[in-house]
Amino acid sequence: MNILVVNGPNLNFLGIREPKIYGKQSYNDLVNFLLAYGNLNQVDIEVYQSNSEGEIIDIIQNNYQRFDALVINPAAYTHYSYAIYDCIKSIPISTVEVHLSKINEREPFRKISVIEAACVAKFYGKGFNSYIEAINYLQKGSANHDH
Ligand code: DQA
Repeated sequence: MNILVVNGPNLNFLGIREPKIYGKQSYNDLVNFLLAYGNLNQVDIEVYQSNSEGEIIDIIQNNYQRFDALVINPAAYTHYSYAIYDCIKSIPISTVEVHLSKINEREPFRKISVIEAACVAKFYGKGFNSYIEAINYLQKGSANHDH
């Protein structure tokens, strides 16, 4: 299985930004963690990051055809980007929403996700492991389709 992972704005600042919320590990640590997990579990993973809404859409549009599923942490765009919602709706592969932090226990605006209705599942609050939960969810789904 191939999974495209797309990360939104400020996630390149992991380790620098609000370490009490997002942890001390860097964005490179996240990428290496995901690639190592993929290697061990026979999942081909490619990871992208952008601080721009349009670039996130370009990444998805230019790459989705090579992947079975999309895992996206749209960061703050989660809460107001109908453009990313439309982009997810427009591709025929399953999309899972992920967040590092406990978005339900923070500022009220973070409780709203305008993209969740375009996604098949959402995992949050587990740090890097939120992504692993998303990958495992997609792997289980693809195993079910084989039988
Ligand atoms: C985030 C949560 C968002 O509310 C925030 O804007 C982010 C990161 C997370 O991974 O916890 O930038 O998506």
